[in-house]
Amino acid sequence: MSTKTNIIQGDIKKRIDTWIANYPEDQRQSATMPALRIVQEANGGSLTNDLMDEIAEYLGVPPIAVYEVATFYGNYNHKPTGRHSINWCNSISCYLRGGEELRARLEEKLGVKPGEVTADGKFSIKKVECLGACGGAPMCQIGKDYHENLTEEKLFKILDELE
Ligand code: FES
Repeated sequence: MSTKTNIIQGDIKKRIDTWIANYPEDQRQSATMPALRIVQEANGGSLTNDLMDEIAEYLGVPPIAVYEVATFYGNYNHKPTGRHSINWCNSISCYLRGGEELRARLEEKLGVKPGEVTADGKFSIKKVECLGACGGAPMCQIGKDYHENLTEEKLFKILDELE
């Protein structure tokens, strides 16, 4: 197997190697999730099949083992994202607390639907399943930060303050 990309080098390789070192030598697969996160960040917020193949080759696992993880969890993106990727919780607690209506207002404000990127490349929206912060519903994740108990006013202020 020979991959078409060569992103795992330098600092990226070092960061992945640090994770690999946390596990027994024959358990490199355990570093799949951090490797996906690191490569996704380095690629501007999304993954491609070629990048996932490179991760698989580097970890010495079949590509399917990497695809399974990357497509199961909502925090991996398979389409280009904006500089600020808004993961919008689409599950029951957020829904019952007005998440759906609030997302509609967000879509209006940004002029995009889930899966799209704003014309200036600043934002994208992605619908995701429960992010484990139901007590703060409705909520979303922007980059690494959780924003909870959202109202329209609070959400728009957060967005307006982002560079
Ligand atoms: S339902 Fe939204 S965080 Fe759990």
